[in-house]
Amino acid sequence: MNLILLESPHWRDYELLDTGNGLKLERFGSYRFVRPEVQALWQPALPEADWRDADAVFRPTSEESGGHWDARKKLRERWEMRYPLPGAAPLKMWAMTTPGRHLGVFPECAAHWDWMAEKIVVSNRPARVLNLFGYTGLASLAAAAVGATVTHVDASKKSVGWARENQDISGLADKPIRWIVDDALKFVQREARRGAQYDGIYLDPPKFGRGPKGEIWEVYQSLPALLDACRAVLSPNPLFVALTMYAVKASGVHLYATLNEMMRPYKGSAEAGELVTREASAGRLVSQAVFGRWSAA
Ligand SMILES: C[S@@+](CC[C@H](N)C(=O)[O-])C[C@H]1O[C@@H](n2cnc3c(N)ncnc32)[C@H](O)[C@@H]1O
Repeated sequence: MNLILLESPHWRDYELLDTGNGLKLERFGSYRFVRPEVQALWQPALPEADWRDADAVFRPTSEESGGHWDARKKLRERWEMRYPLPGAAPLKMWAMTTPGRHLGVFPECAAHWDWMAEKIVVSNRPARVLNLFGYTGLASLAAAAVGATVTHVDASKKSVGWARENQDISGLADKPIRWIVDDALKFVQREARRGAQYDGIYLDPPKFGRGPKGEIWEVYQSLPALLDACRAVLSPNPLFVALTMYAVKASGVHLYATLNEMMRPYKGSAEAGELVTREASAGRLVSQAVFGRWSAA
């Protein structure tokens, strides 16, 4: 197998401007932010003045994903961004600074949105897509934009509310998307008992999380059971399964093996690697997540 480095080259409203000294300088719309980037072990390529000019800086604390935003300029509470999904109208999303250091979109996931949309279009048949840990809904909107019927699951009512607003501003309000606030594992196990079937599954599980009733999600413990449940809800002719993982000690090699095993009964192939972003300043690649994905032959 070859490990792939997957970039998301279509963005206009997002840019990784520079990295270095354990930090990254990014542009979301017209604002520039500094966030921690542990992998940027090198020196920044841009002058210090460019970094000083950022609109806000995330100051982490020692606990995982803890910290606060230090705004140097007045930011709007939220602002709109667009993603030019190939072959469809642009997806629109609200961006804003959140306590967990994120801004409402994981730009490197766009490579998967394009891929999923392409698989759905090329299949030329009605596709049912399940998006687990769906956050602010961009993967769900990408699938719906090209005609899929989508079930979106996230434990956070707030994130699902945000995703629905993204649906509205993207002009996709009339598309069939079922918005579910639930624990991902419980939901898929229930769907399996009900005999539900999906042609495509997209999973972006966090390392650690909680369902709405306090259910514990711990990726190493919980993922095998979730993938079992996902296998049970696959239609007889599935189109794709894509799995992304952030901040975990797993490599693409493992995700490749896991998906090959899971999809053994079906005709298709798996690939795996890292989701990367290329910085504009010196062209260095920064790895954001590992992924594995399978698609039908
Ligand atoms: C890393 S984010 C997903 C990123 C997103 N898919 C994207 O591409 O932009 C993780 C999401 O998982 C949700 N989550 C955490 N634990 C969960 C659980 N047990 N069941 C369902 N969702 C959960 C969180 O609310 C959060 O929105």
